[in-house]
Amino acid sequence: MLSKSEKETIELGEKIGKKLEKGMCLVLKGDLAGGKTTFTKGIGKALNIKEVINSPTFTILKIYEGNLKLFHIDAYRLEGSDYDLGLDEYLDEGVMVVEWPEYYIDYLPSEYLEITFNYIDDDTREINFIAHGDKYKELC
Ligand SMILES: Nc1ncnc2c1ncn2[C@@H]1O[C@H](COP(=O)(O)OP(=O)(O)O)[C@@H](O)[C@H]1O
Ligand SMILES: [Mg+2]
Repeated sequence: MLSKSEKETIELGEKIGKKLEKGMCLVLKGDLAGGKTTFTKGIGKALNIKEVINSPTFTILKIYEGNLKLFHIDAYRLEGSDYDLGLDEYLDEGVMVVEWPEYYIDYLPSEYLEITFNYIDDDTREINFIAHGDKYKELC
């Protein structure tokens, strides 16, 4: 699909966020400024998270409290390392959103929803969905 504004991307995140269930994992791919964190803000809205969701430069994992817990991972700084955040044990308490999954690939669940953000121009992003696992099919 095409998103024509930041607001549209937030709304898309909100729509998906409303359908999330405990234990689900979303993997967000695409370039810097593609809209991954913007989309995650929409997820936060859907989960009733009051805290502002952002991309703090040196924080790899942030946990937000809402209707479900949101484990927001920005793996960018894990590039080249082999670091396990050890999320398996408590993922069933909430949902996991991973930006830069290519740097955390060894520790991702086997099933997840893959979302790719492509920069088209200043205000436009192409956003594509691929379900890895049956439970993600209806989210696409
Ligand atoms: N259609 C759009 N969807 C999402 N962000 C957009 C869009 N158009 C412009 N933007 C801008 O692009 C930037 C996206 O930043 P961000 O969500 O932090 O990207 P990422 O996390 O992928 O690096 C924001 O400054 C936002 O205002
Ligand atoms: Mg980001």
